[in-house]
Amino acid sequence: MRVLVIGAGKMVGAILAGLPSEDISDWGILSKTGTSAKDLARKHGLQFVSQASEFPDPEWILLGCKPQQLKEIKIHDLPVMSLLAAISEKTQKEILKVSHLVRVMPNLPVKHRSGVILLSSSSKQHLKMPEELFSKLGLTKIMDEKELEELTLLTGSGPALFYEFAKTLAESFRSLSESEREVMVKAVLQGSAASLNETSLQSMIDAVTSKGGVTIAVLEEWRRSGLSDVLKKGVAGGIKRTEELKAPLLQS
Ligand SMILES: NC(=O)c1ccc[n+]([C@@H]2O[C@H](COP(=O)([O-])OP(=O)(O)OC[C@H]3O[C@@H](n4cnc5c(N)ncnc54)[C@H](OP(=O)(O)O)[C@@H]3O)[C@@H](O)[C@H]2O)c1
Repeated sequence: MRVLVIGAGKMVGAILAGLPSEDISDWGILSKTGTSAKDLARKHGLQFVSQASEFPDPEWILLGCKPQQLKEIKIHDLPVMSLLAAISEKTQKEILKVSHLVRVMPNLPVKHRSGVILLSSSSKQHLKMPEELFSKLGLTKIMDEKELEELTLLTGSGPALFYEFAKTLAESFRSLSESEREVMVKAVLQGSAASLNETSLQSMIDAVTSKGGVTIAVLEEWRRSGLSDVLKKGVAGGIKRTEELKAPLLQS
């Protein structure tokens, strides 16, 4: 499959690092300045091109520029896998003047093949190839565009939300130094993550808590203090911000 990658930033770099090299051996890549595209081409064995016309017969475009840069992109009418957040499929298709576009919303853990990748498109027949490709990089799920827009906050920002929680937990103790506690909290997170697929989250909580014990005392205090309301309020704030950011993106 010949894919022309446009943009060579953090997300494209993570995707190329995660994909098997035989899957991308026929791919070409370009970027605005060319520097980042040259680096990624060298690192992953892609063909560097300074403009789209130098890469003959692409079957797909993988678009990885920032949403504000969309208006600069000039391509032929090819199917597009677009990584752009915050711009609808309809608007992207109008600006790019293409007939088929699949929105792909990955997160950075794709580089370790532990990502979550959300896909949506009104061109149902074009979902098969991106689904097969991105399944190699983690949990891949096709959904409606509205669902993709809401869940981007969970999958994209999610890692930072978990890290903040773990950091606060480490700060709640006094023994050892701060950096030693950070090492310990990361080990606890890694160990907990290893058991994640065994059963439901509630069953895993139940497995650690016993009636009248220490863990339940912490959880009950958190529940009394409204922890779940605080978390949900934060998420609602993020969703509001997503909506606010949509409007001005294309005006600049
Ligand atoms: N980072 C994330 O966690 C994440 C998660 C989900 C989705 N996304 C989406 O992924 C996209 C890329 O994000 P990023 O964090 O990887 O951004 P980034 O690191 O800033 O990379 C943007 C890339 O776009 C290139 N570019 C800019 N204008 C261009 C043009 N006119 N023609 C060709 N290439 C152009 C830049 O080229 P130069 O290097 O030459 O300047 C750069 O390589 C965004 O749309 C974002 O919404 C990101």
